[in-house]
Amino acid sequence: MFKKLNILDEKNKHLRTVAKEVKLPLSKDDKKTIQQIITHLKYSQIEEKSEKYDLRPGMGLAFPQLGYDKRIIVIVYEYEEGKFENYVVVNPKIISNSTELIAAEAGEGCLSVNREVEGHVLRYARVTIEGYDEDGNLIHIRAREDLSIAFQHEIDHLNGILFFDRIDKNKPFYTENEIRLI
Ligand code: NI
Repeated sequence: MFKKLNILDEKNKHLRTVAKEVKLPLSKDDKKTIQQIITHLKYSQIEEKSEKYDLRPGMGLAFPQLGYDKRIIVIVYEYEEGKFENYVVVNPKIISNSTELIAAEAGEGCLSVNREVEGHVLRYARVTIEGYDEDGNLIHIRAREDLSIAFQHEIDHLNGILFFDRIDKNKPFYTENEIRLI
């Protein structure tokens, strides 16, 4: 039975808290929460399911968005039409990044931000993430383009940062000559 997640709104204090490092192995409850997030994110990206359960589409979620101040992120990435890859990272860190910056042309969205926020968010085009999988194994993930943006967006959540904090109020938009828009 599918249970929709209760995702906290941007005004909630958990969204502005620096989350704590997680001790491994993960608890049963944390593993259960991860599975619920994966299902929610996947369904949110499948039109039939998102309509049925009234889900706003999203590809990532961080534990603080559910009120848990823990450094765990989940990304469900549709790499091909109808095909999804799940990424679960405990205590994620960006250990290297490209010098090239990009921005999502249409701006970013967030399941905790229930309004349109316009503007480009500068992100690294490529990042390498180090962290642990659900079973406590050390993992490294190389991400580029939209997946790279997703990782940076979710890791920001662990530090109490929301995407619009990174939009320059004086210059919210860039041109293709200034930055590569994807
Ligand atoms: Ni978000």
